[in-house]
Amino acid sequence: MRDHMVYFAFAKNDETKRLLRTERRAGMNAPAKTDDFVVAENQAAAPAAAKIPDGVYAETVLAVEHYTDRLFRFRMTRPAGFRFRSGEFAMIGLMVGDKPVYRAYSIASPAWDEELEFFSIKVPDGPLTSHLQAIKPGDTVLMRKKPTGTLVLDALTPGKRLYMFSTGTGIAPFASLIRDPETYEKFEEVILTHTCRDVAELKYGFDLIAEIRNHEFLADLVGDKLKHYPTVTREEFSHKGRITDLIENGKLFSDLGVPALNPAVDRGMICGSSAMLKDTKDLLEKAGLVEGSNNKPGEFVIERAFVG
Ligand code: A2P
Repeated sequence: MRDHMVYFAFAKNDETKRLLRTERRAGMNAPAKTDDFVVAENQAAAPAAAKIPDGVYAETVLAVEHYTDRLFRFRMTRPAGFRFRSGEFAMIGLMVGDKPVYRAYSIASPAWDEELEFFSIKVPDGPLTSHLQAIKPGDTVLMRKKPTGTLVLDALTPGKRLYMFSTGTGIAPFASLIRDPETYEKFEEVILTHTCRDVAELKYGFDLIAEIRNHEFLADLVGDKLKHYPTVTREEFSHKGRITDLIENGKLFSDLGVPALNPAVDRGMICGSSAMLKDTKDLLEKAGLVEGSNNKPGEFVIERAFVG
């Protein structure tokens, strides 16, 4: 398993290592402070509303950013002993009354980051998200100790081009993987597709790409290997339509200037609603790609742990 120290292996000299260390302390992917991005400073641990259950982490919210009335992200402290592989998910929870309520969340930050980031939907009457959307810096969020998941590089056989197909908050595991240097060691080209209903919902993805392009170390490492393909389905935009239609009619490939899907070189990861997972999986299988898992790596993988 990768850990914080592995990232230092990418730092070529002492000066680079020093800068990386400084940046990690500062929270590498926290954007500049703006009015709608509230960073907790000098926050004290929030008073627990009820007794925290045994055997789970209780972490402190550091920052919250709301994108639309349906989407937000938050960052929180990372427990010292918590290890995960980029692309995995964890069970995140809150005390609601005197009971913990959990939901599966992809970890959106990369494995080397000192903080944890999550990208979430807001469901008005959702058992967890109706409460989670109200969190503020300094609040306590629970996390079960064991991360897991299939959207990991280890579950794919070697290839040249990695497609990450996402809709809505399904971009979260890929937010982790596109910030992990290992992704670019394993693949020559990484294509992140993100489809949402409207343009406002794409903002998290645009911010991620800008962050990587401007990042002192990732920018060089990623170079032009990463391609972002955002599309919307319910308003005008440069790229329109469901990703499944754009695969089927070939527009995705002609827009990107790449050949059609080929199991010899292409690998895929899929994360979105259950209908999207099924429809995208069918298309990859039609192209000859075989599904893999942690136990049996293959040509594409799907995260079935959550939907939405
Ligand atoms: P559409 O607007 O045509 O429903 P949601 O916000 O409901 O999770 O949807 C996120 C995006 O996923 C929307 O753009 C939606 O398109 C698209 N989508 C929904 N179902 C599928 C599917 N079966 N295959 C591909 N894309 C889908």
